[in-house]
Amino acid sequence: MRAMKVYLETFGCQMNQLDSELVRGQLAALGYTFTTDAGEADVVLYNTCSVREQAENKVLSRVGLIAQRKREGSQVILGLLGCLAEREGARLLTRYPQIDLLCGPGELDRLPMLIDNAMRTGAVEAADRVALAGNRSRRSATLSAAADNLELLDLSRSFDPDLGPDGGPRRSAYVRITRGCNKFCTYCVVPFTRGAEIHRPPDTIVDECRRLADHGVIEITLLGQTVNHYRYTHGVAIGPQGREAPQVGPGAAAFRPGSRAGDGRRVTTFADLLGRIHEAVPQVRRLRFVTSYPRDFGDDILQVMRDCPRICRYLHVPAQSGSDRVLRLMNRGYTRNEYLDFIDRARGFLPDVSIAGDLIVGFPTETDHDFEQTRSLMKRVRCKNNFIFKYSPRPGTSAWGRLPDDVPDTVKRERINELLALQAGISEAVHAEQVGRVVEVFVEGASPKARAASRGGGGVELGWERQPERLQMSGRTAGDLITVFDLPPGELARQAQGRILPVRVTGAGTLVLYGRLEAPTRSPAEHGALSARAAGITQFEMSESADFGS
Ligand code: 5AD
Ligand code: SF4
Repeated sequence: MRAMKVYLETFGCQMNQLDSELVRGQLAALGYTFTTDAGEADVVLYNTCSVREQAENKVLSRVGLIAQRKREGSQVILGLLGCLAEREGARLLTRYPQIDLLCGPGELDRLPMLIDNAMRTGAVEAADRVALAGNRSRRSATLSAAADNLELLDLSRSFDPDLGPDGGPRRSAYVRITRGCNKFCTYCVVPFTRGAEIHRPPDTIVDECRRLADHGVIEITLLGQTVNHYRYTHGVAIGPQGREAPQVGPGAAAFRPGSRAGDGRRVTTFADLLGRIHEAVPQVRRLRFVTSYPRDFGDDILQVMRDCPRICRYLHVPAQSGSDRVLRLMNRGYTRNEYLDFIDRARGFLPDVSIAGDLIVGFPTETDHDFEQTRSLMKRVRCKNNFIFKYSPRPGTSAWGRLPDDVPDTVKRERINELLALQAGISEAVHAEQVGRVVEVFVEGASPKARAASRGGGGVELGWERQPERLQMSGRTAGDLITVFDLPPGELARQAQGRILPVRVTGAGTLVLYGRLEAPTRSPAEHGALSARAAGITQFEMSESADFGS
């Protein structure tokens, strides 16, 4: 039988990107192949995001196109994975009868069975094409079997170091430390779509990092909705073969002073975990983590960051708002001053720490005064970048039921534009501090600008041959600053990708640093006599471009 071709597109956050990678590995092991052309696929899967309405609409317009194809007779199987599937549930099948399967983010281990069922013609009940967590009890102290199966999906991860998303080598990977979220910020769907916060056992996490490093990975990003709340109590959750199993997170109370959480048992905190990975896997030259929660970020974590040279001095720590009144309505659990104290403490330990944030404008009842508080917070904190969003009411959240979306869209738009302009100035100034320095850049590949400029916009093919012309590459510093530099003609683009190379910063824009490669891309054994050519690298001309950003 011909191998079935799958088209898998991912929307939303890094957690979703990791989920897609696991899905891909799982399906590849069963003989499925993958295509980048939805038009030639037998199975089209969208891994969806539900955090804002706009993200959902983007997916639904794609679904509409495939639905149209199916109405015209195409036999393609259409599946929705992830948070939109979980949030909307079986209602989606009524609205789009062309959708063949739905699989929530907590049920991805059941995806092969769902695809199998969808392929079978005849008496397959709709229920056999849907796997959602639904209202399964979220707060049980022991894990459901389904959560353990999901753990097996992470454990069975296959990682091909020669096959990154663009077909090139991969030296960077995500590792999940927690799933789900217990915070219930009033605007956020994540606790409903991804369920209760589950903490993976530290041994499993360290083993996963070690295996990735054995495959050549030099950059690991630990993922969790609130990573600093990682806390694993040993000796309570034992799984198959006597190994420790994932456990439900302890909740915010465990972080209050004097808390007796753990009840005398040994506990691995986030600081312990970082220290263990740093020590156990020295091949990993960059250990990063996202996302941090502004509360309960102890000095112990900052100390580990200070003392371990391979832990990146980078924090993504969303403030969401600068107004105490709005923070309270958001149920964020900290005040503006507590947020600022944390930032000061972080900079006290790590003067060069690079900080990014998220902000929401137009949260229900937000006044000009509240907004002004957010502006002044931004000016005070000076993040290297901020992801800024217009409040989007999400069905099922507590804000949806309780707080009418009363800030008009025109006001939201004005406010977001004002913050974007303010952030652009701050970002440029933060970037300008780097000019003249030599930074280490983890090279991700050809820059988006170089890719867009390539023939037909279809992407630069990085080869092992020498580049006939200079090629703009892009990557990130340890502080997550996007840096572009030119690879001179004759250098090997593939050789640069996935390496950490020294780049002298020659210019600063709002979105990127511009730089000049300081060393050849060949490793010492390879470059030999050619190394002198590095000195002749021409400087990249400083054209500003809005193509970059995340
Ligand atoms: N509306 C707007 N932004 C939201 N975010 C989460 N939920 C919403 C919402 N309903 C933003 C927050 C969060 C980021 C991932 O998305 O800023 O940190
Ligand atoms: Fe959503 Fe708040 Fe949890 Fe972040 S901490 S995922 S914003 S509920």
